Amino acid sequence: MEKGKDEPEFDRIFQNAPAKEPERQYYFIEQAKKIVAKQNKALGRRQKMCCVTFGCQMNARDSEKLRGILENIGFEKTEEEEDADFIIYNTCTVRENANQKVYGRLGYLHSLKKKRPSLMIALCGCMMQEPEVVEKLKKSYRFVNLVFGTHNIYKLAELMAQVLANPQDMVIDIWKDTDRIVENLPVDRKYSFKSGVNIMFGCNNFCSYCIVPYVRGRERSRKPEEILAEIRRLAADGVREIMLLGQNVNSYGKNLEHPMTFAELLEQVSAVEGVDRIRFMTSHPKDLSDELIRVMASHPNICPHLHLPVQSGSSRILKEMNRRYTKEQYLALVGRIRKAMPDISLTTDIIVGFPGETEEDFQETLDVVEKVRYDSAFTFIYSRRTGTPAAAMENQVPENVVKDRFDRLLNRVQDIAREQSARFEGRTMDVLVESVNEQDSSLVTGRLANNLVVHFPGDASLIGKIVPVHLDRCQGFYYLGSPAAS
Ligand code: SAH
Ligand code: SF4
Ligand code: F3S
Repeated sequence: MEKGKDEPEFDRIFQNAPAKEPERQYYFIEQAKKIVAKQNKALGRRQKMCCVTFGCQMNARDSEKLRGILENIGFEKTEEEEDADFIIYNTCTVRENANQKVYGRLGYLHSLKKKRPSLMIALCGCMMQEPEVVEKLKKSYRFVNLVFGTHNIYKLAELMAQVLANPQDMVIDIWKDTDRIVENLPVDRKYSFKSGVNIMFGCNNFCSYCIVPYVRGRERSRKPEEILAEIRRLAADGVREIMLLGQNVNSYGKNLEHPMTFAELLEQVSAVEGVDRIRFMTSHPKDLSDELIRVMASHPNICPHLHLPVQSGSSRILKEMNRRYTKEQYLALVGRIRKAMPDISLTTDIIVGFPGETEEDFQETLDVVEKVRYDSAFTFIYSRRTGTPAAAMENQVPENVVKDRFDRLLNRVQDIAREQSARFEGRTMDVLVESVNEQDSSLVTGRLANNLVVHFPGDASLIGKIVPVHLDRCQGFYYLGSPAAS
């Protein structure tokens, strides 16, 4: 790593740093804390940081780790970028519009920094793993203080020590890949009652449209004992709901010293005292085992919800996508899941306009939607990602054709989701209360185990509690309910 030039003090700090993790990062937290404390004293107030997350649950969890480190360094949290002394964007690059959003907001950050030159700006996450993005930042966005990637977020304290000592430099630290997992760093959870827990990092699937394997690196699993210890700590801290996170949770454990399956891990997680709800995401259909279906069906604290991205209903397109299942295999899998768990909620991701997609292929997708009847579906317009095999395919579908298919798909998906959601009307089901309703403060908002949203009369004292609620009326994609006697 390049060290600070102007600060002899800074050399000394690095020379004294322990080599072992996470001790090294705790050492840098202390060092950065001293610098921030000095600055706070000069300013006569505590400096604030604002961490903005783009992208998926994986990034949201990473942001909790970033916030944990920054809070330990001595920053106060704020949601307002205008109030912040330090702004960090945790970026996503799964579709091109994710990148455009970040560039757009960088223009705004530049204007903030012109007004307040002491403002520090950091960029991290998936988009930073793309070499052309970093080149562009180096060339046209020199006002950014710190750029790092997905593989070294654990190192934020060390990078902060470097940035705080050299505020004029642009510090860039991007790793191509890593097999390293650093445990036991601070985390600042967004919710007191639910939490994501990483079980694995990276992806080996290389679906032909997808940039994630290039920006998140090869698949690696956390040790089960580390996962279970974290979940026990969370449960002891009052967390009721755990979401196990991985790009493809069904291939968990393959690369461990003592290999184990995801189903085995899930069974162990479900035995942890105090965890009332367990979710997980994402499941790749090609790896979803009958063992997993059995474990799900036989443990009441595993939520009856599966996110099972289909991507396309056409076996020909699925092959081009390198998904490694056919339409028939997918439908057969859904049949097995529904047979074991008739009430289960199924959700999915669908891409429209993959290169070479014909109207007939698209009709196959609509057919899957009709047959599966998803509780909800995320629909995406295919986005060409540089470096992926699909980006080089010649038969890209014209924009107007894609847009038309997208609209037709969205209408159908939404109609079915509305019908599906209504199937629990009149029942009494448990709701984990998440917040006071934003529009009507006499209501609280929470979720059923199957992930459907419910609003019902209540107050803030219910937040984090699981309460039985009578589902009076389905209003499209959510329920209005009333508290039931427990
Ligand atoms: N690992 C997860 C999530 C990956 S990203 C999984 O395999 O399901 C979330 C979703 O983004 C994907 O399921 C896919 O539907 C969508 N997606 C990924 N790359 C895309 C692209 N190039 N264009 C449009 N949608 C894309
Ligand atoms: Fe992307 Fe496929 Fe990996 Fe999901 S499984 S992250 S869609 S490559
Ligand atoms: Fe985006 Fe990275 Fe997630 S590209 S979808 S934030 S893994």
